[in-house]
Amino acid sequence: MTIIAPSILSADFSQLGQEIQSIEAAGADWVHIDVMDGHFVPNLTFGPPVIAAVRSKTKLPFDVHLMIERPDQYIADYIAAGADRITIHLEACAHLHRTIYSIKEKGLPVGVALNPATPVSSLIPILNDIDMVLIMTVNPGFGGQSFIPYSVTKLRELRALLQQGELSHIDVQVDGGINAQTAQLVRDAGANVLVAGNAVFNAPSRAEAIASLR
Ligand code: DX5
Ligand code: ZN
Repeated sequence: MTIIAPSILSADFSQLGQEIQSIEAAGADWVHIDVMDGHFVPNLTFGPPVIAAVRSKTKLPFDVHLMIERPDQYIADYIAAGADRITIHLEACAHLHRTIYSIKEKGLPVGVALNPATPVSSLIPILNDIDMVLIMTVNPGFGGQSFIPYSVTKLRELRALLQQGELSHIDVQVDGGINAQTAQLVRDAGANVLVAGNAVFNAPSRAEAIASLR
């Protein structure tokens, strides 16, 4: 079953609580929370205080995507704010193996994200240690960008690695430019968790938009 995780990056920030309740009612499985620090990516969004403020608005899992430098310094803050799962960027971690275990030892599922130019093979040393891989299908920083076609090749490479290593339990997430058309491409290439911001929040019917991604 495909998991749909709408990104609140495209939500109306002036009424974030209601926006989260709206996608829950529309059939979302997770809430994807795009944290940006203005350093790792050229944009700044929100952090633990905002996540804590909306935590009580839904029971849906908070899927926190940390597009920040030195994420290991902030893991505890995001967990305290209500994160149910945390994804860090390989490119932002000087000591990725240690950061992965700093999340695991707190009992949360951990994801590792790859930017478009980072090869799938860079995951090999830690593939056995993680719960999810996030293949960025745009360059991180903004919603509403166009899907990068080479992402499909990376997804296929990842699927082969997971099959080889008997690691098919690992979730494969995609993020960026996902809509009804690109959703078909990424599902066929092995993705089972689809993040979509623009395609859901700016749709005439959010329920139909979510259904069109499955
Ligand atoms: C990129 C963000 C976006 C967002 C989804 O840093 O992570 O990918 O989640 O954006 P769209 O609007 O393309 O679905
Ligand atoms: Zn994201």
